[in-house]
Amino acid sequence: MTIVRTSILLVVFCTLPRSGNACGPSEYKSAAGECCPMCSVGSIVRSDCSGDSSTTCKPCPPGTFMNEPNGLYKCFPCRNCAEDQGLYIQSKCTTMQDSICDVLNDHYCIELSNQQCSHAVRHSICKAGQETKTQGTKNTDTVCVDCAPGFYSPSGINCTKWTNCSAINEIQTGNGSFVKDVTCTPKSRERYGLICSVTLSVAVIILFISSNLFSKCRENLTNAVQETVDSNMTISNSTPEEINEQ
Ligand SMILES: *[C@@H]1O[C@H](CO)[C@@H](O)[C@H](O)[C@H]1NC(C)=O
Ligand SMILES: *[C@@H]1O[C@H](CO)[C@@H](O)[C@H](O)[C@H]1NC(C)=O
Ligand SMILES: *[C@@H]1O[C@H](CO)[C@@H](O)[C@H](O)[C@H]1NC(C)=O
Repeated sequence: MTIVRTSILLVVFCTLPRSGNACGPSEYKSAAGECCPMCSVGSIVRSDCSGDSSTTCKPCPPGTFMNEPNGLYKCFPCRNCAEDQGLYIQSKCTTMQDSICDVLNDHYCIELSNQQCSHAVRHSICKAGQETKTQGTKNTDTVCVDCAPGFYSPSGINCTKWTNCSAINEIQTGNGSFVKDVTCTPKSRERYGLICSVTLSVAVIILFISSNLFSKCRENLTNAVQETVDSNMTISNSTPEEINEQ
């Protein structure tokens, strides 16, 4: 009895890999139901094994790949790292390995497929009155926060504290907002001081010019007198008798 059972078991065990679902770890079951040797990475089945002839394989055509030993008749299409999906090719597709896409700069992934990003979009840009709390990464968007009261951000980059006009010895003449600084104006005393000094400078210049003109006038007058004297001298010089008399 035991011998019979054992031999039945043995027969069942020996025929198992050849029938039913179970082929060996590097075999596949052909359409005809035979366990055939698999094709290696980078290739697929050209024709199944049958009887004495083994499986024949063929390489994957361009644009397709096969990354595992297989009994398949078609290669997988390569991933397309489309720019309009916010991606670029980090590593090109080979017959043995799919392309590896990466997220473009200033983009973050919003959709994964097979643990790889399949769609990325541009990071948010912070608005005026806000600043970046956290810079975006390949996986996360930029986080923006509103400026705290008393701070402003004209372009959404940094919140800057309003100028303290009194600290620079000026007075505040315009209110600040989340998007613009306060307006400071020099104190009126200083403004009058400025007006005074400008007026004084103008006065000095006018004085200088007029005094110059005045001295020019005087010079001209003196010259005129001198010329008269000279002409008289010339007349006197022209009379030799006078010199002789002296
Ligand atoms: C914004 O502020 C950060 C630190 O607070 C500084 O590192 C960065 O240079 C500033 N950027 C601009 C554009 O001012
Ligand atoms: C502005 O500066 C003045 C003098 O430096 C100081 O007393 C005052 O507290 C400051 N005000 C603010 C709002 O920082
Ligand atoms: C500035 O703000 C103060 C109070 O915050 C207000 O009383 C004043 O009218 C404002 N000035 C202008 C020019 O808006």
